[in-house]
Amino acid sequence: MELFFYLNIFGMSFINSNIKKLKPSATLAINQKVTSLREQGEQVFHFGFGQSPFPIHKSIVETLKENASNNNYLPTVGLGELRVEIANFLNKYQGIPAYKDQIYIGPGSKELLYQSVLLFEGVYMIPKGSWVSYGPQIESKNGTIQILNTEFKNNFKLEPKELELQCKQHSNIQKILIINSPNNPTGAVYTLNELEALTKVCRANNVIVFSDEIYSQINFNESFSPSIASLYPEKTIVFGGLSKVFSAGGYRLGFMCLPKELEFLHSNYRALFSETFSAVSSPVQFAGVEAYRMKPDLVSYVSKNVEILKAVSSYIFNSLSQIGIECTQPQGAFYMMIGFNKFKGKINALGIHTSEELSIYLLEKFKVALLPGTDFYFSSEELFFRLAFVDFDGVEAMKINKSGYSEFIKNKCFNIMGGVESLKKFVASLG
Ligand SMILES: Cc1ncc(COP(=O)(O)O)c(C=O)c1O
Repeated sequence: MELFFYLNIFGMSFINSNIKKLKPSATLAINQKVTSLREQGEQVFHFGFGQSPFPIHKSIVETLKENASNNNYLPTVGLGELRVEIANFLNKYQGIPAYKDQIYIGPGSKELLYQSVLLFEGVYMIPKGSWVSYGPQIESKNGTIQILNTEFKNNFKLEPKELELQCKQHSNIQKILIINSPNNPTGAVYTLNELEALTKVCRANNVIVFSDEIYSQINFNESFSPSIASLYPEKTIVFGGLSKVFSAGGYRLGFMCLPKELEFLHSNYRALFSETFSAVSSPVQFAGVEAYRMKPDLVSYVSKNVEILKAVSSYIFNSLSQIGIECTQPQGAFYMMIGFNKFKGKINALGIHTSEELSIYLLEKFKVALLPGTDFYFSSEELFFRLAFVDFDGVEAMKINKSGYSEFIKNKCFNIMGGVESLKKFVASLG
């Protein structure tokens, strides 16, 4: 029957085969499954979905309201005022020497990444432990992907020797490295030294870098995260947006900072944007101006969000590490990877051999939702999962003083506490 739908009257497929093989994003799929279980009255501990738990700062919401009647199409590459503010923001908060004309505005960094994937031909290098959507975006245009190996002992951060090895193996083709720090799914943050070592390899091999810095200010130890664009400005495109740092995923506003050396691509990007999304919603762009101005009240709001996330992540990291679950050390973003390889024999004895099978088992038997590592370029047999630690009430959390965070976690973060307890029960059940 399904086959019938994919064939036209001449018996030929009329669906693009690259698109046909894509599945809906795993993150959204698990979120729907958890929602439907909760609707049936089941209690589920949701470590699957990575949306900021905090409300949008009132200054941004107010600016959006004030501009609600603005019905003009704005320039295709974005509102001039917003581009200026983002360039200033990148200079001040990410150490990136940017100016207005390098900034492009789009409906989310995801869309800008996709437009860039459409534009650049070559082999896309994705470190194991990277965001779920990079791969499918490239597959949708039948592009070439090379997964780069990373290791738990290095928090799954890419090491220069692996990059060098893969550059040698793809010496005759343009290479595009996608790097994301702070990282989804590991929570790892690259140090400036680590980025310097990667820069050397990139420069020697003429690699173009897509640097996904959407979580940049969600850094648990520094006020912002080092950017490879500050070391390798000539070939790094930086991506960012309102979704994570400003908790405004639904506003759909992202930006891209194109290096001066790639300025000749301006007309290509402009053409692509104008033929696809035209421009981002006007009121949202004005709200973006307010966000990127980073007035003092907003700066302290974001840093309090970060303090809370750090407290929650440390609680989970400590609790799970104590019982032998391998955890990446979260240094930023909303996530960590957790692994059950120490229990592999006992898990295999249950008839479970892959992370996908284990994620279903954990959801059904222990009511814990985790995303299997396979969504993040791990092999199935590596029993690693992404744990997102945002299932708590961000409004309540913002009312608490720093000294009260651990009480808040114990008494008010029912889903976080419950999820950790369930994982402990699972490990105990293995004997
Ligand atoms: C690593 C990473 N990059 C990009 C995005 C896309 O963000 P947006 O399109 O909302 O700007 C996300 C969202 O989950 C993400 O986690």
